This record gives sequence, structure tokens and C-alpha cells, in this order.
Amino acid sequence: MASTIDHERREEFRRNGFVILPKLADDDEIVWLREVYDRLFAQYATPGAENFYDIAGRRDGDRPLLPQIVEPEKYAPELPRSAHFARCRKIASTFLDIAEDDLEFYGHAIMKPPRYGAPTPWHQDEGYMDPKWSRRGLSIWTTLDDATVDSGCLHYLPGGHLGPVLPHRHIDDDDHVRGLMTDEVDGTAGVACPLAPGGAVVHDFRTPHYAGPNQTDQPRRAYVLVFMSAPVEVPDPEPRPWLRWA
Ligand code: NI
Repeated sequence: MASTIDHERREEFRRNGFVILPKLADDDEIVWLREVYDRLFAQYATPGAENFYDIAGRRDGDRPLLPQIVEPEKYAPELPRSAHFARCRKIASTFLDIAEDDLEFYGHAIMKPPRYGAPTPWHQDEGYMDPKWSRRGLSIWTTLDDATVDSGCLHYLPGGHLGPVLPHRHIDDDDHVRGLMTDEVDGTAGVACPLAPGGAVVHDFRTPHYAGPNQTDQPRRAYVLVFMSAPVEVPDPEPRPWLRWA
């Protein structure tokens, strides 16, 4: 599997804020990643467990709508020792123009369960971040299943990373819900990025993105690696009043 990113792809990333990598993980890696993923969800995806979140539902809800395990590498230390991880870090280093050793990282595993997985409304990942600290970064989103428009593939707003962090609010205007969304994106301008298993998309911290609900009979499992620069303190941070949870 190639981890070399050519000049054209780098320019595309700078211009659009995202790129598609149609084959980032090979078939053996996908089989292995699915095994790790399913084991983690079987063991740790229970409401109230540390590192487990339902992005779209209330923390006290009974059925998770959009279950997610943050930092799965805590429970599966083999993840960051894999060839897939090394490839992703190299790719992140190229896109961000930051040395591999200077990149911080964490993972998350996001599942859209069959038939009832909730949509992930338009948001910018930077909308979740404390404005007192500035970082450059990106996410590499590898799908372990077919990610289609019907199963909840990602949609991006091309060039949206060149603007500001948009105003966000809590999903359902309920500050018990962890997930944030913005009303400032015209969804019709979004570009859908369907992928076969092993395919990936890379997006900048500021690129607006969306994923639909999973309307298929299959789960839509995605393994995300986030790479970023060390934080730099911002002397006069902009207000992000939505960063408050009940
Ligand atoms: Ni996101």
C-alpha cells in the first residue's frame, strides 16, 4: 500500500480541504482492523464506560444512536504499531508539512449501526476545540465497510476550510448531547465521498463535513486517526459559547 502523496494530491488537499484515498488499507489489514474493532465494541461500548460516547444521543439514553470509542489505542495497543498506522502518519506528515515525530495523535472508532444509525450533521472538527489553543491537524477516516450515500459516507464542503470556524450548536439544542452541528453550511454544495472497504478520506480540522444515517442492513464501521501539531496558546481566543455540556 502506497503512502506516498504526490504534489497534485497535496494541492488538492490545500484547495479543497479534503482528499479521497481509494485504497489506503489492503484486504488483510481490513480483516485485522475489523477484528480489533468488533472486539473493542463488544468489550467497551456500554453506556457510561470510559472512552465510550454516543455522539447523537443523550449520555443517559438507552440505545446508542452513534456509538464511538475515543482513543481505542488505549485498549488495543497493537493499533499504533500497525503498518496502517505508520502509513497514515506518513501521509499526515506530508499533508500538514510537519515532521512525523512532531505529530500528536489519537484515534476514534465510529460506528453507524444498521437501519437506525443517526446522521452526523454538518460540523467542523475545530468547532469542538478549545479556542484557547490553536493546532493544525487532520483526520484520516478509513472505512471497514462499504461507505455509500445510503450507509453514511462522508460529504464535504470543498474549500470550506479556508473560512472561519462557523457558529455551532448542540444537536437537538440539547446540551446533554455531545455532538455539535452548524446551520451555516448549504448541504446542496456538499460532495459525497463513497468508498469501498479499505478506502479513506482525509480532511482538515476546519473542513465542514456531514454523514447521512445508515439506511442499510450492514453496520458502517470507520476507524479514524487524528494527527495534529502541538498546541500553541492563543492570546485573544474567539468565543465558542457552544462548548458547554450539561
Ligand atoms: Ni467530524
